[in-house]
Amino acid sequence: MKKPMQNEHWGSRLGVVLAVSGSAVGLGNFLRFPAQAASNGGGAFMIPYLIALVAVAIPLASAEWALGRYGGRRGMHSPMGIYYVASGRRPFFGVCGGGLTFTAFVINMYYLFVESWCALYALQYLGGLLAPLGLGFSLFPNQAPGLSLDSAAAYQDAFLATTGATRDRALFGANGASVLGVFALCAIANFWLIYRGVSKGIERFCKAVAPLILICSIIIIFRVLTLDNPTGKEGQSLLDGLGFMWNPQNAAETLKKPSVWLAATSQIFFSTSICTSAVLCYGSYVQAKRDVALSSLTSTMTNEFCEVCLGGLMIVPPAIMFLGAAASEKIGSVFSLGFVILPNVFGQMPAGQFFGFAFFALLFFAAITSSISQLQPASAFLEEAFGWTRGKRVLAVALAELTGTFVVCWFTEGLVALDAFDFWSANFMPFLCALVQTTLIVFFLGRKKLRDELDSGAIIKTSKYVFPAIAFVSLPYLAIVFGFWLYGEFVNKCKEFAAKPGSLTSEIFLLAVFAALVIVSIFTVLRWKREERLGKEKGANL
Ligand code: PHE
Repeated sequence: MKKPMQNEHWGSRLGVVLAVSGSAVGLGNFLRFPAQAASNGGGAFMIPYLIALVAVAIPLASAEWALGRYGGRRGMHSPMGIYYVASGRRPFFGVCGGGLTFTAFVINMYYLFVESWCALYALQYLGGLLAPLGLGFSLFPNQAPGLSLDSAAAYQDAFLATTGATRDRALFGANGASVLGVFALCAIANFWLIYRGVSKGIERFCKAVAPLILICSIIIIFRVLTLDNPTGKEGQSLLDGLGFMWNPQNAAETLKKPSVWLAATSQIFFSTSICTSAVLCYGSYVQAKRDVALSSLTSTMTNEFCEVCLGGLMIVPPAIMFLGAAASEKIGSVFSLGFVILPNVFGQMPAGQFFGFAFFALLFFAAITSSISQLQPASAFLEEAFGWTRGKRVLAVALAELTGTFVVCWFTEGLVALDAFDFWSANFMPFLCALVQTTLIVFFLGRKKLRDELDSGAIIKTSKYVFPAIAFVSLPYLAIVFGFWLYGEFVNKCKEFAAKPGSLTSEIFLLAVFAALVIVSIFTVLRWKREERLGKEKGANL
């Protein structure tokens, strides 16, 4: 190989668990999950969700960590290199891995944008919180410090104005200055953390932020549990709120719909960050003799706790308690739930500016530990492909990410570009990745190598269950669900997107990104092959 890779490692076991949990716990837990559950049958959604957790997430997370470390020990940290070595140096898998680097890379293009909305909202609430001290400020155009408006429609308007969702290019006028400014700061923070490196940047930051996430969650949960029927109206008690989220209404009906299974499985991928290249890449920085078996399980379970217990409790129940039936219509939409309904709830709560601040600070901290994990695989990809220094890689990744975010910010009307980016990167690609990865593990890496890798440094012995679970449960489950997905949704979605110019441009852009990744991977893999041949010939001559 051209150049020995710099061998970076995590500093400690706690550090890697926090970094992977940080990657997993994010907007997916606090915004996407409640909205998905509420719009797919409430409590009934939890049945396919838990099945997907057991059938896919738990075995695949262990295998993904092990696969990552298998590659990392051989100097590979991106899916391209890891798939290549783990498949017994098969160019096909190397190129697949290169193409699949797309997932986290593209998710980041809009995730960073949404992360900056969270930062903007947190700062706006902080402005309101500081107002009594005479230090108030407002980042929302034409608005007093803080966020306390007089109607649901006003909250909706404030959201539309700050995100530019009313018309394309709206953000490039005077109104967009705050959101673009905050976005620039968030982007710089992300790129700087990646530039600092795995242990000095990502790991240290995740360790510092984890307590903040915990404190903000405790504040919000405590508030929610002590609310019980704040308006005194019928049907708006804590139990009604919890019931809306958790009661399995028409379970039999709900379970018959393939779309619910698809939603549950993609939620699992998005939320745990598996099959998105993030966990694979993080796993590759674990040292050879350190545990992966328990660590993978701990991170997956930490994510589930934050998603089901915290995310499930803190978002939908207060909306129902304050707004009753009026809230329930909009609860299925991820952004309305977080950025319209909840601000409306905080507006009606005593000390709402404080709770609003705590909530959006929580979202922001959870989001940033996820967004940095989306950047690392692309940086590792460039290292393997071109042998660039870290500075050069981060610069290239930053430029590519910002170009993608520019497309997202340009076509803001109805957030169509964001939707298209999300559909391809967060729904389509993880399924494809899961299928490629399970095939690789089952047919090419094989039972023995997987077991050895999982057992090396293991604190608990799970290795004997992982391979059969993947071969006999995950792979067939994924093939069936993906088959249904292609059959039921794919064509419709493509047609729907083709009808909107913003989506079409976004898709052309995404296709170009994918093609670039695949082309670079082909050249890299061919180079590796050539180098191996030369190495062998040299060996034979000696
Ligand atoms: N898991 C993160 C969340 O729940 C999102 C994410 C997706 C992170 C893909 C990394 C890779 O918000």
